Amino acid sequence: MERAALWILAVVALASCVPRALAQDFNRDVTNLLTAKPTLSNGDNPFLQTWNATSSICSWRGTVWAYTNGTLLDCDSPEVRANQSLARDADVVVTELNLGATGLTGSIPKEFGLLGALSVLWLRENVLTGAIPLEIGNAASLSVLALDRNRLSSNIPPSLWNLCPRLTLLALDSNALDGEIPNPANPGTQCPVLTDLRLQNNQLSGPIPAFLGDFAALTTVDLSNNSFSGAIPTELGQLANLRSFSVAYNNLSGSVPSFGTAFDAGAFAGNPALCGAPLAAACNGSTAGGGGGAGATARASGGLSPKVVAGIIIGVLAFFVVAGSLLIFLTQARARMPNEKQQVGVDFKREFEEEEAGGEAGKIVHFEGGEALTAEDVLNATGEVLGKTSYGTVYKAKLSHGHTIALRLLREGTARDRAEFVPAIQELGLIRHRNLVPLRAYYSGPKEEKLLVYDYMPRGSLADLLHNGSSGKPGASWARRHKIVLGAARGLAHLHTGLSTPVIHGNLKSKNILVDDNYVAHLSDYGLEKLMIPAATNDVITAASTQGYKAPELIKLKRANTKTDIYSFGIVLLEVLTGKRPGKSPESDEVVDLPTMVKAAVLEEKTTDLFDFDLVRGTVRTPSEDGLLQALQLAMGCCAPTPVVRPDIAEVIRQLEEIRPKVLSSVQSPLYTPDSTSTRSREAFDY
Ligand SMILES: *[C@@H]1O[C@H](CO)[C@@H](O)[C@H](O)[C@H]1NC(C)=O
Ligand SMILES: *[C@@H]1O[C@H](CO)[C@@H](O)[C@H](O)[C@H]1NC(C)=O
Ligand SMILES: *[C@@H]1O[C@H](CO)[C@@H](O)[C@H](O)[C@H]1NC(C)=O
Ligand SMILES: *[C@@H]1O[C@H](CO)[C@@H](O)[C@H](O)[C@H]1NC(C)=O
Ligand SMILES: *[C@@H]1O[C@H](CO)[C@@H](O)[C@H](O)[C@H]1NC(C)=O
Ligand SMILES: *[C@@H]1O[C@H](CO)[C@@H](O)[C@H](O)[C@H]1NC(C)=O
Repeated sequence: MERAALWILAVVALASCVPRALAQDFNRDVTNLLTAKPTLSNGDNPFLQTWNATSSICSWRGTVWAYTNGTLLDCDSPEVRANQSLARDADVVVTELNLGATGLTGSIPKEFGLLGALSVLWLRENVLTGAIPLEIGNAASLSVLALDRNRLSSNIPPSLWNLCPRLTLLALDSNALDGEIPNPANPGTQCPVLTDLRLQNNQLSGPIPAFLGDFAALTTVDLSNNSFSGAIPTELGQLANLRSFSVAYNNLSGSVPSFGTAFDAGAFAGNPALCGAPLAAACNGSTAGGGGGAGATARASGGLSPKVVAGIIIGVLAFFVVAGSLLIFLTQARARMPNEKQQVGVDFKREFEEEEAGGEAGKIVHFEGGEALTAEDVLNATGEVLGKTSYGTVYKAKLSHGHTIALRLLREGTARDRAEFVPAIQELGLIRHRNLVPLRAYYSGPKEEKLLVYDYMPRGSLADLLHNGSSGKPGASWARRHKIVLGAARGLAHLHTGLSTPVIHGNLKSKNILVDDNYVAHLSDYGLEKLMIPAATNDVITAASTQGYKAPELIKLKRANTKTDIYSFGIVLLEVLTGKRPGKSPESDEVVDLPTMVKAAVLEEKTTDLFDFDLVRGTVRTPSEDGLLQALQLAMGCCAPTPVVRPDIAEVIRQLEEIRPKVLSSVQSPLYTPDSTSTRSREAFDY
């Protein structure tokens, strides 16, 4: 209570001394950020140098701006970027500060508490010291507070619980925080949307408070590696949504309460005085006397085993992508629901039934943009094999009048029967998106062989770009690679969330990400599993496995889903970052599992060696500055062994956009000789 009173005083005091030194009548949030800047770091932080009075707020790195009505500032528009009045418009507010891993060395400014529209404060993985200011509790819109992996000390301010109504993620882990978990100033405070509470790896002590059991939305609670003592409150067992829980390596005692979801012994390990299932130490008799149960063996006096440490590191890598993504996923799922039932392309059916050409030879069905094709065109085209798989062959086909198309032949017996095939291909034919190769038509032969007609992409695939570059020529720059993966992510997002029924890609790999002259990505081969019989789909999955793109759960589960797509996307991202081809190498029998390779490098602290030489050379100053480390973390999150932990595609895009390299500087690197100035500017414009 005393602390709460103190906090109120502090806020009142602060509010009354909003700096007036900045005489340029900037709006409140701009003024507060400029005031906060010297507290975060001394003058030489390149990230923060962009926060200055002379440059557009759109170019202040790590910031997201909006109007008070919620509409985001369109910082992609040159007029908006050039508009110096925005910084003076009282209706313009900052909604996100994404300053993770930006080398901040100061402390957390109390001015952040005055940012009334701030919903995301992301300061993880810096070198921030000092206490968490009480004033943060006054940032009334804050829903994501990630201060983990810094060197913060002192107590957790009770004012943080004032954020409860909106708080979804609270990550304070891996700091040097001490003292007890504070009680909320108002007893009975509810945190109804808090899903993630991360306090591990601090020096917190005292009891685990029972009120945490009232925060019904919690899915992840990690209190491990602290000095909590006393019993685990039985109230925690009531948390119906809890999926991930750990109190390992504390000083807890008493019996393990029963949880709705059973957690394994690892969640409770390292508490010598704790007893009861799942620990081997029974609660009767001589538990504390070193009676020799497994509970006692867990009391490793010299810290954690390397395996556990690895788990924690990888867990940390995986977690951050998730935290935000669950939220985004939930809100989007809710927003989407009413539309889910809407039908698209109802009148297509009529066209489909009537369309007929080529008599007995078979039948061609047109989709938007493919109207001019006839069955003869397709059958008389001269083809060149581009790729062969167990379920069909792809041809580059030249039509008699010169136009080139890509043809995919689905071998006899691999396609589903008509009743299933027709609605499925109808659905695929309607999909149009800048980052997806459009299906223009399909031809169904008399023997049920099927030809799918796609646009031909002469530039080839991301795989060609990464692995088949002529020797001596530098590979693609980070800016180009980033542009391609971001495009691919947007294409995938359209499949997962932009359609009335989600479409699973099912075979995402670098070979299926085609690029055009401007390095815009176009996904191919999407949704084919809808067309093929399960046996053929299994062949695809098996192939994906040898190629290293298959999510581990597909061993048991035979059907691809959005989470397995995300896994494949993660592998593609790792491929882009490391320049290494995943899976079985064509030359030897060596199998490269990229996630395993990266984990090993992270544990040996050799992360920098991981990156493709072409990426690090010349164009990139330091990996963390140009977002390579963040990209690596994102990729590892996508490749998390547990599907629920993987981010959804919206979160992937959000993070990729956050680390977007400064395009022009990278594209204009002396390593590259762009074809012409116009290509260069178009390339940047197209981003
Ligand atoms: C202001 O920010 C721009 C980039 O937005 C940067 O180029 C410039 O050097 C900064 N000025 C100062 C004085 O730091
Ligand atoms: C919000 O305000 C801005 C600027 O005043 C305006 O351009 C935008 O259309 C508004 N959005 C909505 C949804 O009212
Ligand atoms: C610049 O921003 C101000 C403040 O938001 C707005 O009133 C004005 O219309 C903008 N000017 C242009 C050219 O967009
Ligand atoms: C446990 O927490 C401390 C900080 O209190 C940290 O230094 C240490 O690395 C943590 N141990 C593990 C295994 O993460
Ligand atoms: C663990 O808790 C007991 C009381 O339950 C206390 O006596 C002991 O000092 C604690 N040990 C540590 C290392 O904090
Ligand atoms: C052992 O546990 C049983 C019930 O599980 C209880 O009835 C008994 O009193 C306990 N004995 C001791 C010594 O605590």
